[in-house]
Amino acid sequence: MRIAILIGSIRQGRQSHKIAHYLQKQLQGKGLETDLIDLAENPLPMLEERVGMHPQLPQAVKELSQRLHAADAMIFVTPEYHGSFSGVLKNALDYFYSEFSRKAIGIVTVSAGKLGGVNAATQLQQVILSVGAYALPVKLLVPEVYGAFSDTQELTSEHTAKSATRFIDEFYWLASAIYEKKKAAVSI
Ligand SMILES: Cc1cc2nc3c(=O)[nH]c(=O)nc-3n(C[C@H](O)[C@H](O)[C@H](O)COP(=O)(O)O)c2cc1C
Repeated sequence: MRIAILIGSIRQGRQSHKIAHYLQKQLQGKGLETDLIDLAENPLPMLEERVGMHPQLPQAVKELSQRLHAADAMIFVTPEYHGSFSGVLKNALDYFYSEFSRKAIGIVTVSAGKLGGVNAATQLQQVILSVGAYALPVKLLVPEVYGAFSDTQELTSEHTAKSATRFIDEFYWLASAIYEKKKAAVSI
């Protein structure tokens, strides 16, 4: 099973990529294949038209479409900005639909404050349902992110480590249930 982790923060001095790297390591430790998609390294132009409708789809969008199609399940990582998830993530999501449909998607939100981006997480759940995907009910909220990692980017927050373990367990359960169902459907 292949898991794409999409980092929806490109801010200078950003923090959200740290939990994405942590999750990637944890998933790899469970023997899962991962694809870390960093929108800072793979920038997309502002949406002029979506996949399938654009007369000259930008190459970066084509490549991202292929990577998303190749994933069996996904994790979206986003900071909370002004009470919602990031604009750069929304711009990326708006290009696609079939890349997401019938896939499990886990939500991870990051904030500097104590609430861990709960508003962003709740709103992102709605968007995930709108693209025909299955939003994982358990969300991973990362509060006080500036104190949650060491200088060498190791996770030091016990609270977040515990939340991450539960999130990964739940994510793996849903993602593998859908994956097995699809495999069974193919072999009929
Ligand atoms: C434009 C902007 C808006 C923000 N709005 C919120 C907010 O609504 N709620 C919150 O808890 N933190 C807010 N913050 C603080 C972010 O949660 C914090 O900067 C966190 O590190 C964001 O992740 P990032 O470092 O990957 O950008 C905001 C930060 C920025 C840059």
